[in-house]
Amino acid sequence: MSQFLSNCSVEALAAAARILREGSLVAFPTETVYGLGADATNAKAVARIYEVKGRPADHPLIVHIADMKYLQQWITDIPEYAIALARKFWPGPMTLILQRSELAKDFITGGQDTVGIRIPANSLALGLLDAFHNLGGAGIAAPSANRFGQVSPTTADAVREELDEFLASTDLLLDGGASEVGLESTIIDCTGKLPRILRPGAITTEMIEKASGLKVSDSAENKTDNNKQEEIRVSGSLENHYAPKARVFLDQQPVLGSGFIALSEIETPAGVVRLAAPKTIKEFARVIYSALREGDHQNLDSIYIAQPTGDGLAIAIRDRLLRSAKGR
Ligand code: TXA
Ligand code: MG
Repeated sequence: MSQFLSNCSVEALAAAARILREGSLVAFPTETVYGLGADATNAKAVARIYEVKGRPADHPLIVHIADMKYLQQWITDIPEYAIALARKFWPGPMTLILQRSELAKDFITGGQDTVGIRIPANSLALGLLDAFHNLGGAGIAAPSANRFGQVSPTTADAVREELDEFLASTDLLLDGGASEVGLESTIIDCTGKLPRILRPGAITTEMIEKASGLKVSDSAENKTDNNKQEEIRVSGSLENHYAPKARVFLDQQPVLGSGFIALSEIETPAGVVRLAAPKTIKEFARVIYSALREGDHQNLDSIYIAQPTGDGLAIAIRDRLLRSAKGR
């Protein structure tokens, strides 16, 4: 069981940064989902992330930094368009995949020659990162703070529920309230001539094209080495991911006694448990994971979801729902 901290002061964040530097884990809020953090240069600490998550060790981790000035040390090369994206969307829900430097070891990249980097837009996360850099830290490796294959946590309670039994008394969980975005960051492969989305999120194709002035590629064709592309491992792209215990059904008539999630404009069918009625697509993204968790708390066998239609963030929502409907 980990220590738990809410109302984090500057001193508390400095203490949390020390805990990370000493090799323990700190779960912390970000605007997307909660992350389970470790010093990204400490092999032993990073190994514990995999243990606690129950995640295969060859899956790469995102390195979180507080500012662009900490980016250079992690990478060898960055295309113009990636700089434009970073300037436009960082801090924010976007991860850039770039050519790694020596600092990004195999235990971070899963043995690939690229590294994923993100500057999160959350004051607690940035406060923790600042304090961590002040202690000489280069970056915090952090996957979503859930057991492998399960729904990402968007509150500190959800992290506790997922991981507390696997955490040690020297580990720490920071409570920063509910995550604002609610879906994991957009992952953009920036190793080719054109940006390529590996995982859709709140930074949409349209936003990327506008900021970069380039067309987003949806194939491996712009790669200099096509074979490399096949090797990229995005664990979030495994099919059975983001799955609650209940079975998830998409765009089907719900059966009696099941859970139901849909935009508020859609009425609740008789005899089902309404788990969420978001008014907007943005709110849909923000509440979807906690609504799935609520279905499990209520021991529902099945959850029916009327998916939001359209482009942008709705694409990211449908991407996650499709996987959660595949079950575990
Ligand atoms: O919003 C987020 O990205 C959250 C918060 C905590 O920052 N983090 C997150 O981490 O979702 P995780 O580990 O649950 O998902 C990160 C995904 C994984 O599917 C991983 O395979 C992929 O990013 N990834 C990391 N480094 C990569 C790389 N070098 N190449 C390709 N994919 C990479
Ligand atoms: Mg994850």
